[in-house]
Amino acid sequence: MPAVSPIIREDVERIVENLKEELWEARGSRWLISGGGGFLGAYFLDLLDYCNREVFDRPCRVVCIENFISGTPARVRHLRDNAFIQIIEGDIVKPLQVTGPFDYILHAASIASPTFYRKHPIETIEANVLGLKNLLDLGRTLDVKGFLYFSTSEVYGDPLPGNIPTPEDYNGNVSCTGPRACYDESKRLGETLAVNYYRQYGLPVKVVRPFNVYGPGLKLEDRRVIPDFCRDALRGKKIAILDDGRSTRSFCYVGDAVTGFLAALLSPHRGEAFNVGSDEQEIDILSLAELIAGLVGGVEVEFVRSSEEDYLTDNPRRRCPDLTKARELLGYQPGVGLKPGLLRMLAWYREVYGEDCT
Ligand SMILES: NC(=O)c1ccc[n+]([C@@H]2O[C@H](COP(=O)([O-])OP(=O)(O)OC[C@H]3O[C@@H](n4cnc5c(N)ncnc54)[C@H](O)[C@@H]3O)[C@@H](O)[C@H]2O)c1
Repeated sequence: MPAVSPIIREDVERIVENLKEELWEARGSRWLISGGGGFLGAYFLDLLDYCNREVFDRPCRVVCIENFISGTPARVRHLRDNAFIQIIEGDIVKPLQVTGPFDYILHAASIASPTFYRKHPIETIEANVLGLKNLLDLGRTLDVKGFLYFSTSEVYGDPLPGNIPTPEDYNGNVSCTGPRACYDESKRLGETLAVNYYRQYGLPVKVVRPFNVYGPGLKLEDRRVIPDFCRDALRGKKIAILDDGRSTRSFCYVGDAVTGFLAALLSPHRGEAFNVGSDEQEIDILSLAELIAGLVGGVEVEFVRSSEEDYLTDNPRRRCPDLTKARELLGYQPGVGLKPGLLRMLAWYREVYGEDCT
């Protein structure tokens, strides 16, 4: 049976080391994870598999529902014959094929890459509203200990100056009809739906707003900016910058982000949203391209017009989280810098796609 990538295993070990006591409480528990074949969801499957093998005295059981609209079966192939992890190919928008019992429900199913959510706007809205409602209704009928909804920093849209770093109580500057609205607005309604299941029914909902997470497992064809730049560089092509290179982002290494998501899920805080990201280094896109070019070596950068008409419409100019709330209430502390994180990601690409990444 194929094994998990050693790079991802190292990340998982670090996450477990950081959260050992909290995770111990979850031994023997039952999990439902939507979108477990995707970038973030698959980390949870690998983490729980690792805990079953190395940490827990009683294994937990995991069911994952995944329709592979943006995830790949290859990412979770090593879990196919796992006695405690069941991967069901299905759509969470349709009536659920599972009844429980479950202790934890994680809703990570949604297309997250702008190129693909613009191509599949209705599927994106449905996953974030109807799929979420299906899972909330299931959670309500069961006595779950925690329900985690993956929202996004995009709920803030393009924050107005003076609101960066952006705290959770900033209400956002979002278009409700633009080409990104299928994602931004469905996440906003998803948050409203989720917190009201807490208010009305007491469901222990926790909402996380990830800010530009990157790292091993984010597939080369994903069409988010870091995989795009890595793909060009690893194939020895000029790195194509599709905007003026001046917008900024604060990228968060996946190991840090998953630690934050878990800390939120296992915390006593309910009906609340938490930023999860990194505030260590806000970097402009040109500098990011140059950094990746330098790490790979022997490649240049160039400015190119995207073939996608709406590529830049409503694209936020700056994005950086205010992490005060996550630090104070969750003890969240991202620790992996951009350069070491990118080196881990590049090593994973070479491991999975081969040296020339073609
Ligand atoms: N990675 C980030 O930087 C980031 C940032 C903000 C928010 N998020 C949110 O976190 C969650 C996970 O993101 P990701 O980066 O892992 O994205 P991803 O696209 O890699 O993974 C999402 C997974 O959900 C699956 N999926 C989509 N719709 C489905 C449906 N109707 N039924 C079953 N499965 C379905 C996809 O096939 C995919 O495997 C998403 O909700 C995303 O919006 C991620």
